[in-house]
Amino acid sequence: MTPMRELAGKRALVIGGTGGIGRAIAVALAQDGAELYIHGGRSRERLAAALAAARSFGVQARGLLREIDGEVEPFLTFCPEPDLVVAAHGPFLRKPLIETTAEDWRWMTLINLAFPAALISAILPGMIARKYGRILLFGGTDTGTIRGFATTPAYSAAKTGLAVVARSVAKTAARSGVTCNIVCPGLVDTEYADAETRAYNRAKSPTGSPLTPETVAKTALHILQSPSLNGAIVQVDEGVDL
Ligand SMILES: NC(=O)c1ccc[n+]([C@@H]2O[C@H](COP(=O)([O-])OP(=O)(O)OC[C@H]3O[C@@H](n4cnc5c(N)ncnc54)[C@H](OP(=O)(O)O)[C@@H]3O)[C@@H](O)[C@H]2O)c1
Repeated sequence: MTPMRELAGKRALVIGGTGGIGRAIAVALAQDGAELYIHGGRSRERLAAALAAARSFGVQARGLLREIDGEVEPFLTFCPEPDLVVAAHGPFLRKPLIETTAEDWRWMTLINLAFPAALISAILPGMIARKYGRILLFGGTDTGTIRGFATTPAYSAAKTGLAVVARSVAKTAARSGVTCNIVCPGLVDTEYADAETRAYNRAKSPTGSPLTPETVAKTALHILQSPSLNGAIVQVDEGVDL
């Protein structure tokens, strides 16, 4: 018997869906029957490969290649009425506070906070009107806690701001069938990780084998299918101590 595809016919917009965790989620969504709108940053090859992977599950998939500059309009034109939005792309910056420049702050807060937040503000009325919506965002270490960070203050501040956005969506739209949750991955070996990062991930991983994007995507899919998780900050990190 063919397993039921829970998300059959739903339109899923995946920002940063051509690589890393975003790509694994796009593929998991396609496997579950969703119609895919996959965004990627720079690589035409990665976009083509992600679209082919999605289509191999018999679903429709469209692609958009665009560097994020804060404008949300092109994404709304690309996918006017998404049922699911996964905002995966979130650049990392390791720089102590006193070395962090104004441009670093602008970049970190634009891509990790202001852009996904503005996109949510724009798509939320449609989701509320249609009485269905699933939004998934991404945090990092201790995203749900107000604390200081010696090496990643700009990245971590933006991610904690994003957690406030996730909870605000839940407060605004839970009665309309809209959920918004935030996954905080631990150490993930993506194709973007260099040899030094991979060695660090292996050394720090409590199991000795760092997470894969596919492992994170399994939890992400469960969250996206679930009507009962809302405003949650979910650590998918093997209990790593960073
Ligand atoms: N990886 C980890 O260990 C880890 C740990 C904690 C939290 N996280 C969080 O998890 C999320 C996913 O992380 P990730 O490491 O899998 O992937 P990522 O590097 O944040 O995103 C990769 C995706 O973003 C696209 N992209 C790259 N530069 C872009 C730009 N300037 N404008 C628009 N799109 C761009 C890539 O396309 P191209 O390849 O075509 O450029 C690809 O589709 C992020 O929010 C991250 O902060 C990751």
